[in-house]
Amino acid sequence: MKKTIGIIGAGNIGKTIAAHLLKNGYAVNISNSKLPESLKETVAQLGKGATAVTAAEAAEADIVILAIPWLQAQTLTNLTDWKNKIVVDASNHYIGPDFQMADFGDRASSEIVQEHLPGSRLVKAFNTLYFKILAQNPAEANGHRVLFVSGDDKEAKGQVSDMIKTIGFAPVDLGSLSAGKLQQAKGPLALLNLIQL
Ligand SMILES: NC(=O)c1ccc[n+]([C@@H]2O[C@H](COP(=O)([O-])OP(=O)(O)OC[C@H]3O[C@@H](n4cnc5c(N)ncnc54)[C@H](OP(=O)(O)O)[C@@H]3O)[C@@H](O)[C@H]2O)c1
Repeated sequence: MKKTIGIIGAGNIGKTIAAHLLKNGYAVNISNSKLPESLKETVAQLGKGATAVTAAEAAEADIVILAIPWLQAQTLTNLTDWKNKIVVDASNHYIGPDFQMADFGDRASSEIVQEHLPGSRLVKAFNTLYFKILAQNPAEANGHRVLFVSGDDKEAKGQVSDMIKTIGFAPVDLGSLSAGKLQQAKGPLALLNLIQL
């Protein structure tokens, strides 16, 4: 068994990422905003290696994936000691029912998320594809489906990229967390479904 990945958010994206991880030998601790009992059916569907936990327990893993609405990141500040923790931000900065977007000037949406998780080594990834496309087999057309990564900590980005490769996707490094503007919602790389040959 490879390492355990914590996932905060057990909706469309959280479950989709969990399925890829489990298929490739990772253990997954998955959580939502409620008690773990509420995820009984979800972990049964995900199968062996999936465990329902609290968000605080999910945050104990070496790599923690945030698959929650962007605005919810601000509720996680005191969940754990985020210092040096590798956190993957899969969110897009929608804040309303009609895809209304948060306005934070010229910064990247993940820079705001990182501020809510002090000291974390944040990597943006998994946010560009609709979950039904992300769910598909990443090996396609003799290549691998692309997932963009951006972040300021090279080592964290390396570990996340290794995980992305292990589950069959092709990580493409865009550079800093600020460069993540390219991959965030409405950025030029958002929604691109690319295959790296
Ligand atoms: N859907 C897509 O195709 C897609 C694609 C790329 C990126 N994204 C991004 O991924 C994120 C999640 O989207 P989604 O479609 O997966 O949403 P979703 O299906 O509504 O699921 C959201 C999940 O987050 C959990 N959650 C909310 N607040 C939480 C908190 N404070 N602590 C712990 N868990 C919390 C919810 O749990 P409860 O049920 O307990 O509230 C739920 O399990 C969003 O930022 C979205 O922009 C989505």
